Amino acid sequence: MPSVSATQDQERAVGKDLANPLLVRACYGDILDRPPVWMMRQAGRYMPEYRAVREKVSFLDLCKTPELAAEVSLQPLTAFGMDAVIMFSDILVIPEAMGCPVRFTESVGPVFDHPIRTPADIERLRAIDPNQDLAYVMKILGTLRAELSNKPETALIGFSGAPWTLASYMIEGGGSRNFTHLKSLMWNEPQRLHSLLEKITIAVSAYLNAQIEAGAQVVQLFDTWAGILPLPLYQQFIQPYHQQVIQSLPTDRVPVILYVNNSPHVIDAILETAPTVMSVDTLTPLSTAIAKARPKNVAVQGNLDPTALFADPSALAPMVQKLLQEGGDTGYIFNLGHGILPQTPVDNVRLVVDTVKQYHCKTIPNTPVT
Ligand code: CP3
Repeated sequence: MPSVSATQDQERAVGKDLANPLLVRACYGDILDRPPVWMMRQAGRYMPEYRAVREKVSFLDLCKTPELAAEVSLQPLTAFGMDAVIMFSDILVIPEAMGCPVRFTESVGPVFDHPIRTPADIERLRAIDPNQDLAYVMKILGTLRAELSNKPETALIGFSGAPWTLASYMIEGGGSRNFTHLKSLMWNEPQRLHSLLEKITIAVSAYLNAQIEAGAQVVQLFDTWAGILPLPLYQQFIQPYHQQVIQSLPTDRVPVILYVNNSPHVIDAILETAPTVMSVDTLTPLSTAIAKARPKNVAVQGNLDPTALFADPSALAPMVQKLLQEGGDTGYIFNLGHGILPQTPVDNVRLVVDTVKQYHCKTIPNTPVT
């Protein structure tokens, strides 16, 4: 598997343009005075502004109403001033576009009433035309780019679920503890699982490329459940599909961030797929991730534990400072190690964002007077 080549190095230099948003510059390894900051799933239930919108509309209707989805995407920017806006949507819009509809319940989360269980179920899945089938997502991105036209320093992030995580929801029919259906398919009929992953990979690649055309300046691939496999199986069922998606993207001008949860045992395999940025979960120490990623010219994002936001400010602040010091002035993006949790106190979110924005990587030394 190729790692970052000299040509990729040169291509990545294209991103080192002062006119780019801070996040894009950090992705490409520019030397910065402070890292950019945003939080995975930053628009959501911990914000009273979000809950007020959700009182009037269901989650899926919110995703499918571009004006409302754009409004909700901008709420964290207005409230806390992050360096990026992530479009409001969900990873499970792709299965729906492929013909495997999802509904969201308050208590259980996502539910597929017709999960993928037979060969015919896989064959029935449609190839997607993202501009048609997911036109509402493209509209959200277009609206957000227009809204952000007076804020060129703020990046607009698009995203997709990665093939393995999407397959897990489609096969299990929702969230799962043991992944018995998914793993049975893997043990009994690996080729069938590959044909499903292949179909999803084609959809994800088309979807992310369409998002870039619609205005996304950075894209993130979420593989929440990829950490459940040991390395040899990860190399068979997950890594090749990351590689296919990443290679389909114009990473010379639009960075791709790869997030794999529970990933300490697969860090090298993540880096082999040459994402622009590796988003680090809470288990891997940031310094370990950086030591592995920097020699490969891969930037690093993360990895404050989302539960640290429930700590007293006096305990939280030193955790933030430690990450800032470890992250340093090149190729680092401040973020959480997983999505922000619904009960998170907003004052601590503000504290984290303010602390990062006030940080200076280097104190400028006094110039000696001659
Ligand atoms: O980052 C953002 O602000 C953008 C929005 C975003 C959502 N989901 C909104 C959402 C993003 C990037 C996601 C990704 C997502 N969705 C992932 C990958 C990241 C991760 O956290 O691991 C996964 C696994 C999902 C699937 C999903 N969506 C689940 C399991 C649930 C139910 C559990 C939960 O958190 O409620 C959702 C629903 C969902 N997606 C909500 C939000 C704000 C809550 C819906 C509500 O308002 O009730």
